[in-house]
Amino acid sequence: MIKYEIKNTKEYHNNYSKAIENPEVFWAEIAKKNFTWIRPWSQVLDWDFSIPKVSWFEGAQLNITENCIDRHIENNGHKTAILFEPNNPKDPSEAITYNDLYKRINRFANVLKSKGIQKGDRVCIYLPMIPELAISVLACARIGAIHSVVFAGFSANALSTRINDCDCKMVITSDGGYRGAKTIDLKSIVDSALLDCTGVESVLVAKRIHSDPPMVSGRDYWLQPLLDDASIECEATVMDAEDPLFILYTSGSTGKPKGMVHTTAGYMVYSAYTFKNIFQYEPNDIYWCTADIGWITGHSYIVYGPLLNGATTLMFEGVPSYPDYGRFWSIVEKHKVSQFYTAPTAIRALAKEGLELVNRYDLSSLKILGTVGEPINEEAWHWYNDHVGKKKCPIVDTWWQTETGGVMISPIPNSFEGKPTFATLPFIGVQPALMDENGIEIEGNSVEGRLCVKFPWPSMARTIWGNHQRYKDTYFSAYDQKYFTGDGALRDENGHYRITGRVDDVIIVSGHNLGTAPIEDAINEHPMVAESAIVGYPHDIKGSALYGFVTLKNSQDLSDALKIEINQLISKQIGPIAKLDKIQFTTGLPKTRSGKIMRRILRKIAIKDTSNLGDISTLLNPEVVETIMKNSL
Ligand code: PRX
Repeated sequence: MIKYEIKNTKEYHNNYSKAIENPEVFWAEIAKKNFTWIRPWSQVLDWDFSIPKVSWFEGAQLNITENCIDRHIENNGHKTAILFEPNNPKDPSEAITYNDLYKRINRFANVLKSKGIQKGDRVCIYLPMIPELAISVLACARIGAIHSVVFAGFSANALSTRINDCDCKMVITSDGGYRGAKTIDLKSIVDSALLDCTGVESVLVAKRIHSDPPMVSGRDYWLQPLLDDASIECEATVMDAEDPLFILYTSGSTGKPKGMVHTTAGYMVYSAYTFKNIFQYEPNDIYWCTADIGWITGHSYIVYGPLLNGATTLMFEGVPSYPDYGRFWSIVEKHKVSQFYTAPTAIRALAKEGLELVNRYDLSSLKILGTVGEPINEEAWHWYNDHVGKKKCPIVDTWWQTETGGVMISPIPNSFEGKPTFATLPFIGVQPALMDENGIEIEGNSVEGRLCVKFPWPSMARTIWGNHQRYKDTYFSAYDQKYFTGDGALRDENGHYRITGRVDDVIIVSGHNLGTAPIEDAINEHPMVAESAIVGYPHDIKGSALYGFVTLKNSQDLSDALKIEINQLISKQIGPIAKLDKIQFTTGLPKTRSGKIMRRILRKIAIKDTSNLGDISTLLNPEVVETIMKNSL
């Protein structure tokens, strides 16, 4: 589908050079040859990282859903667009063709309109991984409403914070969802979130688990009867290139979550072009990304990237362990999956279960394997390569972020090989830079530093919703004229990049980005807690796990029950993903003379590397360090 494919090393290098030497000509050509525009652009790129301002394809008009759906209908209407695999393997899967998707999106879009949703309104989507999730995302895009998907594992509190931050007018949810053997009640979470959200006028509720939740009259509506009455035609709203397409929240090291704003045209061009080339998608392939649409990976590489390419994208409702740890492989066999994209944490969890479950299934349809979300360790990489890919499937270790909208550094199959633990080379148009402590770019190879990007790419987030200053402070202030990623990286002798991990207070647990500050705030709400500090430590399956050092107001109160209460509080404020694996009660936390907690020391204690703690004599309270070390878990 996408022209300007990268099929070999020469094409990679040629295209890379073209995109660096003349980015505007390069991206204009990709945009012109591959998409449907209502009106062409007047300026390809306008940017200034010191403001910061970035705009791509200014002046152009389009609707991304016409590019995702309408234009595929004439020749490929009967092709499966979304292949839905339910939680329970005994339930039938569902193949939604491009023709079906067209009708379902339009019906949904008409329902949104009938409830007063207009271009620019924010709509919060809080759904399990059922087709309605992808359809509601696209229905919003059809009429220019800005979707804000919130992962359905977040708590009521986390949900209400996100709804209020961008003033959502509507919430789309379901009565509940299935996750493995569990049934999750979502509607009651929405109800309790909405006690704090005055701006929400209506709630659309999809039926999934057939529970009978209370419905608030005049606010809550069952979705299906509204869809049944809606027309299958809905004209796509004309969008400007830089109109926001969606908001997606990501954790920061401090403060409330950041609503990253992605706009329409640049995101479309880049998500489509990366999808095609990194996964080398061919027309009859079945592509499967196991992420949840609640994260950026699901936005770009379950929904938009694949559909823009007219692909068949598999959407899985369940979990890798249900009914047993062979589920992923049984799905690969059942649907003859060609590209499989998952997270290192899942690979490690599956590897732990042994080979019998992998070898039970025919995985010969696989052509390319992907990984994302955190650094992949060497052992997991080899296991994936040897036992899933049978040493014949290139592994694409894709490094990117919610903020980048699309993959930034990754192998491209057939162009250059992956190397265990390396994300390898920048994607076309991406200009990485490694910076030293003094803000100077480190040139040459075999070097290590902080990873920045020094030139705009089409799908970068344009701002943080409602707080452009925070966007500037977080990403464009550490290094002059550069986007700072928050990651450290090394560049080897061949110029290949290996991401070494976060250099800020964000910890990646099972591929989920967690800021330490909101977790500490949650713990500190406990009436018995004086203060707390969270650090990460290596974990076999999760990559990193959370270690909490907690000082109580009264040191007599230490008990296991209190540890449980602390984790319950975290679950309530953020969600179960942020629970602590280890909680150590302390009499105090090591502090600098200005009162700042010295996390560096706590990090070392958590990883049991206390031989060289550095100079602790300058601490306000050096004596606590010894006690914390003695009692460490
Ligand atoms: O630290 C990097 C890590 O995940 C962070 C971004 O998280 P999030 O915004 O949730 O997006 C995840 C999915 C794109 C990055 O700053 N990360 C992501 N992919 C990789 C990675 N670390 C190492 N290798 C990767 N392939």
